[in-house]
Amino acid sequence: MLCMQSSLVYTEWLHMSKIPNIKWPILGKLSQREFLSRYWQKRPLLMKRALYPFPDVITPEEVAGMSCDERVESRLIMERGGRHPWELKRGPFKPAMFKKLPKSHWTILVNGADRFVPTLNGFLDHFSFIPFWRMDDIMVSYADDKGNVGAHVDNFDVFLVQAAGKREWRIESQPILKDDFIPDLPVRLLKKFKPTHKWVLEPGDILYLPPRFPHHGIARGNGCMTISVGFRAPSTSELINNVVASALSQIDETVRFSDPDLKAQAPGEISKSAIKKISASIKEALTNESFIADWLGRFTTEPYSDVKLEANAYPVTQAKVAKVIRESSFIVRAEGSRLAFVRNSKTSISLFVNGERRELSGKVALCAQILADRIIVPVGDITSLLNDGQVQQLLANLLSTGAVVLEE
Ligand code: SIN
Ligand code: CO
Repeated sequence: MLCMQSSLVYTEWLHMSKIPNIKWPILGKLSQREFLSRYWQKRPLLMKRALYPFPDVITPEEVAGMSCDERVESRLIMERGGRHPWELKRGPFKPAMFKKLPKSHWTILVNGADRFVPTLNGFLDHFSFIPFWRMDDIMVSYADDKGNVGAHVDNFDVFLVQAAGKREWRIESQPILKDDFIPDLPVRLLKKFKPTHKWVLEPGDILYLPPRFPHHGIARGNGCMTISVGFRAPSTSELINNVVASALSQIDETVRFSDPDLKAQAPGEISKSAIKKISASIKEALTNESFIADWLGRFTTEPYSDVKLEANAYPVTQAKVAKVIRESSFIVRAEGSRLAFVRNSKTSISLFVNGERRELSGKVALCAQILADRIIVPVGDITSLLNDGQVQQLLANLLSTGAVVLEE
């Protein structure tokens, strides 16, 4: 049976994962500062044995299970063995589909896997040398021998983590600025690809690629799983669209164009001073820093539409919260839940939780920063703050709304 060859079989996948508290120094001898200044958004970096031995964060069964789930965006790409070369099928798939897969040359990809698999959610902590608000999601691919999605570019930074099996990566050492795709294919493959580097990645190896570096990864043997940690790169048009909508919802309609300083001018002319005035008022409405801070905090913490936080999973009162937390080991950001803060002063912050803002200062601001800086927070990191009433109030609220959960 083909599904036996591929070892990719469907089973119930939800809640199979346990969250480990793991911290490997992905960057090895490189400091965060060195990585940022030499590589981030500049040049590729191969990190051999960056996470070794590689932890059990995802199984082929979970990938198969997610690809059958209607909430998850999934694809099957068959270079060969489909109805035509590079056939693309979109999920959700039926479990029976796995039995019909060809022997080789296919890949299954699932997007947003960190929003469904707790261990992948916690896995993001390994990448927190880049701020969380810059992260987008984890895509996981499973491929049998020679499975690949073709030579392509991505518009965002990505860490390609080899989770199981082997994948040969070929890359070009310079980014390309213009798209030039092979026409009439369902996948966007580069017309020209001249790799300058080639490596075979094994479990625990990571390849970092900045945006638009041409790359091509081919499974070498069966059971190849790659975890792609992808970053956010909103287009300027997406940002403008969103920021304008936000500004319009708060704008004061009584503030109108005025020109008491109007000078005599040619009646047909739109004067330079009118242009300047209009430009200044639009700039003020759309770019003043406190508005942008508020908008960016809400925009970047707004959960994706497939995220359903379990409100009332922990309906804990302020009076009981400290006790409940002390009895647990970790406070964990729920899958797909987003937290970020903007610093207003040394002791005060605006905390953004899943698109909503609150102003905090003193101990509760400190607690909020600890929670925003990690997905998995050991309870010991905040026990000294637990007697504070505002801290209790914040934690009771975060638990009751499902933004964070407790782990034994
Ligand atoms: C893959 O995992 O097969 C493809 C990932 C990528 O190239 O971005
Ligand atoms: Co890619």
